Amino acid sequence: MSSIDYNEKIPNNVNLGEDRALKRALEHWQPNYLNWWKDMGPEGSQDFDVYLRTATSVDPQGWAQFGYVKMPDYRWGIFLNPAEQDRKIHFGDHKGEDAWQSVPGEYRANLRRIIVTQGDTEPASVEQQRHLGLTAPSGYDLRNLFQVNVEEGRHLWAMVYLLHKFFGRDGREEGEALLQRRSGEEDNPRILQAFNEKTPDWLAFYMFTYFTDRDGKFQLCALAESSFDPLARTTRFMLTEEAHHMFVGESGVSRVIQRTCDMMNELKTEDPAELRAAGIIDLPTIQRYINFHFSVTIDLFGSDQSSNAATFYSTGLKGRFEEGKRSDDHVLKNDSYPVLEVHDGKLVEKQVPMLNALNEVLRDDYIKDSMGGIKRWNKVIEKAGLDFRLAVPHKAFHRSIGALKDVNVSPDGVVLTDEQWQEHVDEWLPSQQDREFVNSLMGRVVEPGKFANWIAPPVIGIDRQPVDFEYVRFN
Ligand SMILES: [Fe+2]
Ligand SMILES: [Fe+2]
Repeated sequence: MSSIDYNEKIPNNVNLGEDRALKRALEHWQPNYLNWWKDMGPEGSQDFDVYLRTATSVDPQGWAQFGYVKMPDYRWGIFLNPAEQDRKIHFGDHKGEDAWQSVPGEYRANLRRIIVTQGDTEPASVEQQRHLGLTAPSGYDLRNLFQVNVEEGRHLWAMVYLLHKFFGRDGREEGEALLQRRSGEEDNPRILQAFNEKTPDWLAFYMFTYFTDRDGKFQLCALAESSFDPLARTTRFMLTEEAHHMFVGESGVSRVIQRTCDMMNELKTEDPAELRAAGIIDLPTIQRYINFHFSVTIDLFGSDQSSNAATFYSTGLKGRFEEGKRSDDHVLKNDSYPVLEVHDGKLVEKQVPMLNALNEVLRDDYIKDSMGGIKRWNKVIEKAGLDFRLAVPHKAFHRSIGALKDVNVSPDGVVLTDEQWQEHVDEWLPSQQDREFVNSLMGRVVEPGKFANWIAPPVIGIDRQPVDFEYVRFN
């Protein structure tokens, strides 16, 4: 009989060696996880040596160890940020009480649901991205894709750790189900819709890591406030990894824009057709991708009015973004917040109880944050001396959740009839033709230092390595 030494195999800072029941549960889950990785992880990549960052502890020296790793051998570990002494609950009805080190019985079902929903997004994005390695624009980008993928895998481990440690048999069952759902599969899809969409090309990948991983950041930030201390500590550490994912997205889109602007100047044209003939992605197409990914992602925050959101907050399960930095009473029972609805063919604001609008509050915080990258992308265009400017669409544009789901709204916030929508939709969202064009550019470039024609090289490499470093070795 083979026995696995998990102190060796699973780097951790949770005293795994001393918790036999937990060890056994994870021991049971690990081979299933590896089978899932083989089936649904990056296609055709099992043998590559990839220059990856691995976390071996949470301190500054330990969490970013670089070296060549075959991905199935990546050391997926379990890390919680250090405990804060005497941490108190700082919002909701339990404000001022000690943070929970175990799960209060009355909140068990809701906490489990929150953890499962977060956990489900992690393997989902790996599944969505599993074909992208075949068309990487460079070895540098290929490595970044794989880095994101292994860390999403680690985020799944983080959530499964909580399920196994604190939720007994139901937790173990949920841990298995997380390996069984599949992104986009009709019979057993992932829980949230944005995680069932395809990520068909690299422009979509950069948009996804910019916009949708940023949703991850905001969800994790809200959970990092949780009264359930192990959840707060594990999500805090996940956030350190998440930053790189958003960097991959922001710098990726920026490099596409850089290349497009360079070619617009070189060819002295703004005409999308001429640019496309030169194998370049035109700026209006980039804008349509932004519109799509932004709108699909802001749906992830849920209905604008939600009694669940109120319950999660009041019971202390999930806080607001940067809860600790806010100066209100952190109970919010007497506050209101504006949400949008359509009245007489126009979008109007309506004040509703703040507690019920907490999804909208988080969505608005997200929107503010996501506009930062757009500003920086516009700087690239401005520096190139061009007039085009990118923007995020109105938050009522192309929504599928909440009060705005059945109305047609243009990117600048005008309510439209079905006919008007149909007439313009291809100007606002990627059309079949756009997708086919972008897809036609996708070809594999992996020679160190070489980049596909439609994207500029990065300014610097990973881990201070040169841009032409051999980030992936194919065996
Ligand atoms: Fe993640
Ligand atoms: Fe991520």
